Amino acid sequence: MKFFIDTADVGEIRQALAMGVLDGVTTNPSLIAKSGRKFEEVIEEICELVPGPVSAEVVSTDVEGMWNEAQKLAKIAPNIVIKLPTTMAGIQACSRCKENDIKTNLTLCFSPSQALIVAKAGATYVSPFVGRLDDISHFGMELIEQIVTIYENYSFETQVLVASIRHPLHLVEAALAGAHVSTIPYGVIEKLLKHPLTDIGLEKFLKDWEKVPK
Ligand code: E4P
Repeated sequence: MKFFIDTADVGEIRQALAMGVLDGVTTNPSLIAKSGRKFEEVIEEICELVPGPVSAEVVSTDVEGMWNEAQKLAKIAPNIVIKLPTTMAGIQACSRCKENDIKTNLTLCFSPSQALIVAKAGATYVSPFVGRLDDISHFGMELIEQIVTIYENYSFETQVLVASIRHPLHLVEAALAGAHVSTIPYGVIEKLLKHPLTDIGLEKFLKDWEKVPK
C-alpha cells in the first residue's frame, strides 16, 4: 500500500520524507488555508520536494471552470494530480482530463455508486472519506471493502485512495481491505509506530547493556 501524507504543511512533509516511506501528498482547500500560504506557491514547493503524485484541488463547481483550473495546475509540475469533486461537473472534467492525459483524484466520494462512475470516467484515484462516514454513524471502512471488490470484479485501473483517516486502525483496516493508497495526517503517521512494549523493551535493553563489562 502506498503512503500519501494529507497536509499542505511543508515541515510535516519534510519529516515524513526523512522517514523514507512517503509516496505522495494530498491537499485540499481547508489544508491550504491552514498552511496560511498562497495556493500555487505551496503546491509548487511540495511538487519540488516530493517526486510522487501531489493532489491539488480545484475550487470551481462548473465543468469549464474546473477544466481551466486543471490545465493551469497541470503546468506546475509533471507530478500534479488534479483533485475534482465527485459531482456531475467533476465527472465531466475528469473525462476531459483523461482524454488529455492529466491525472485525477476524485474526492468527496461517499458511496459505491459514485466510485463506480469515477472508475468509468477513467480517474487515476478515487478518494472515499472513511472518517467523515464514521462521524455520521456509517461504517466508513465498509465503503472501502465494497469499492475494492467492485474495482477487482471489473479490473478497473482507478486506485482506491483511502482518505479522511483519523487513527492507526483506519490504516490497518484499509490495508486488510486491499486499498491501493492511504492518505494519512502527520499525527497519525507518528502514532503508527507507537507501542508501549517497544518503549519498555528498549529501556530494559539499554539498562541491561550498562551491566555488560566494557
Ligand atoms: C484527502 O484527500 C481529504 O481531503 C482528507 O483526507 C479529508 O480529511 P478530513 O475528513 O479529516 O478533513
